[in-house]
Amino acid sequence: MSIAILGGTGPQGRGLALRFARAGTPVVLGSRDAARAQGIADELNVQLDGGAGISGKALRDAVAAADEMVILAVPYAAHDATLEAIRDLLPGKILIDIVVPLADGDPKKVDMPDAGSATEAAQALLGEAIPVVGALHNVSAATLNQLDHPINCDVLVCGNDLAAKEKVIELIRQLDVAAYNAGPAVNARCIEAITPILIRLNISKKVPFTHAGIRIWAPGA
Ligand SMILES: NC(=O)c1ccc[n+]([C@@H]2O[C@H](COP(=O)([O-])OP(=O)(O)OC[C@H]3O[C@@H](n4cnc5c(N)ncnc54)[C@H](OP(=O)(O)O)[C@@H]3O)[C@@H](O)[C@H]2O)c1
Repeated sequence: MSIAILGGTGPQGRGLALRFARAGTPVVLGSRDAARAQGIADELNVQLDGGAGISGKALRDAVAAADEMVILAVPYAAHDATLEAIRDLLPGKILIDIVVPLADGDPKKVDMPDAGSATEAAQALLGEAIPVVGALHNVSAATLNQLDHPINCDVLVCGNDLAAKEKVIELIRQLDVAAYNAGPAVNARCIEAITPILIRLNISKKVPFTHAGIRIWAPGA
């Protein structure tokens, strides 16, 4: 099985590509510029030195190359336009939306869309026949790209299609992280909104850490 990561040339997409390829899933980076995507894929393959391969293609070619799952990892400003550009290629595939609608010019705030969240906006735009699953919003790119460190957090997964969510949870568990079914797409309003709080903490000089994530704590476990 191979996955596509649209916007995979950015730090979040690169980190996910490294992690998934290392876990054995081939990755196709999707970019507005196919040559840029292939150049970054070549760099990542050198960094990996093994594992499943990473390749780079133009956005639509990357979607076509993905067997079943496509990750959307572009800035929120490009969310709807990117989906519009590939929607005809999505039937039969799951769209994994990791986009956080950060406020323009202030990553310590969200500016939620009228649909409620980016995940709900994607589901409304694509229609119920294409399952949209929200995930990976609270994992930092710095964490993903530090391959010599385990991912230090859990992942909340939401969406309206249970079977699609279960497939995405299985995919994410390849990365040795706990991934939980966090309910329907409407819950993306809460999950996406956690990220600017993490960013606020991470850049605060008053806390002794950076790149924080969230962890579901099981008392007594
Ligand atoms: N960075 C993090 O720590 C983090 C954590 C959690 C969630 N996220 C979410 O993950 C997504 C990606 O984050 P990122 O930091 O990797 O983003 P980014 O670097 O700003 O953008 C990722 C890629 O999207 C494409 N892109 C940028 N602007 C675009 C535009 N106006 N129109 C179309 N494509 C555009 C670019 O690829 P091409 O030029 O190659 O097309 C870029 O390399 C965001 O939605 C973010 O909220 C990020």
